[in-house]
Amino acid sequence: MTNVLEVNNLKLYYYTSKGVVRALDDITFSLQEGETLGIVGESGCGKTTAGLALLNMPMPPGKIAGGQIIIDGQDIVPLAEKEMRRHVRWQKIAMVFQGAMNCLTPVFTIGKLMMETMLEHKTMKKEEAWHIIEKYLGYVGLPAGVTKRYPHELSGGMKQRVVIAMALFMNPKVVVFDEPTTALDVIVQCQILNLIKKLKLEKALLSCIFITHDLATEAEVANRIMVMYGGKIAEIGTNQQIYSERAAHPYTKKLLAATPRLHQKVDHLSFIPGAPPDLLAPPTGCRFHLRCEVAMGKCSAQEPPLIEIEPDHKVACWKVGYKE
Ligand SMILES: Nc1ncnc2c1ncn2[C@@H]1O[C@H](COP(=O)(O)OP(=O)(O)OP(=O)(O)O)[C@@H](O)[C@H]1O
Ligand SMILES: [Mg+2]
Repeated sequence: MTNVLEVNNLKLYYYTSKGVVRALDDITFSLQEGETLGIVGESGCGKTTAGLALLNMPMPPGKIAGGQIIIDGQDIVPLAEKEMRRHVRWQKIAMVFQGAMNCLTPVFTIGKLMMETMLEHKTMKKEEAWHIIEKYLGYVGLPAGVTKRYPHELSGGMKQRVVIAMALFMNPKVVVFDEPTTALDVIVQCQILNLIKKLKLEKALLSCIFITHDLATEAEVANRIMVMYGGKIAEIGTNQQIYSERAAHPYTKKLLAATPRLHQKVDHLSFIPGAPPDLLAPPTGCRFHLRCEVAMGKCSAQEPPLIEIEPDHKVACWKVGYKE
């Protein structure tokens, strides 16, 4: 299998007046062609920051502080903004932003909005652009008549479909979905997940990264799952390795215990005591050690590297896979 995306030692820091927020701190992973990689973790662990970093699009006062993002054999980190806009963003890698469906410009019809976005990134005749817009609206299950409507005339689910169509219509190699189901009711959430699976089957969507705080949702859509904690990768493995007893990191185990399962009797749902780390001054050693029930002396002193404990399965924990 070929890698469509390789991320090496990527860092994105926010340089605030209070200090440096190390929101994405040295992450390394890859994405294979046709694969869906899930990124999961608590609020503030750096999921959106990771997505924005992959588009080389840090939000101020953020800056990529190091590392490589190789798409199609090219490292896009050193590219100038003009080059990113013209040749990379939306054409090689696109993103469905967290909450994007609520940010559609209210004064434009969906058709005008889609047309403007398309022509901003690619030079083409209007007829050709209409043809592509109608094709992608069809892919996401919307009638062509939607182009005449304004965003406020659509339901949440329809707006989310429009946003997904807009991410796809340049046929990018990688699409990042940031919490695409979070603000929707459960029925519409299910429809959007099924839509993403259908788009993959029809090859309208190729490789993608699916960000959510919900492990059960990842188990539905992802082939592999990356668990983030405090700006770092805690564990990464296949869906079967992470969403099972084979999960190895104490944080992943806690997340699993806090995820309700349909076919299991649940007396009480467990939660993870304590709060996520302050990324302005993250704890020394393992960033999870202050909330970890099995932490030992070394955990507060030395940062655990991400090591392979079985094929495709890597964990960053001193308790797992290390010999003293
Ligand atoms: N523009 C910014 N300026 C300063 N700090 C920021 C900025 N954006 C994010 N952060 C900080 O970076 C860290 C990661 O934030 P991020 O939005 O990536 O988290 P997330 O995992 O996507 O959370 P959520 O699940 O709530 O969407 C947090 O500590 C957050 O406070
Ligand atoms: Mg987010």
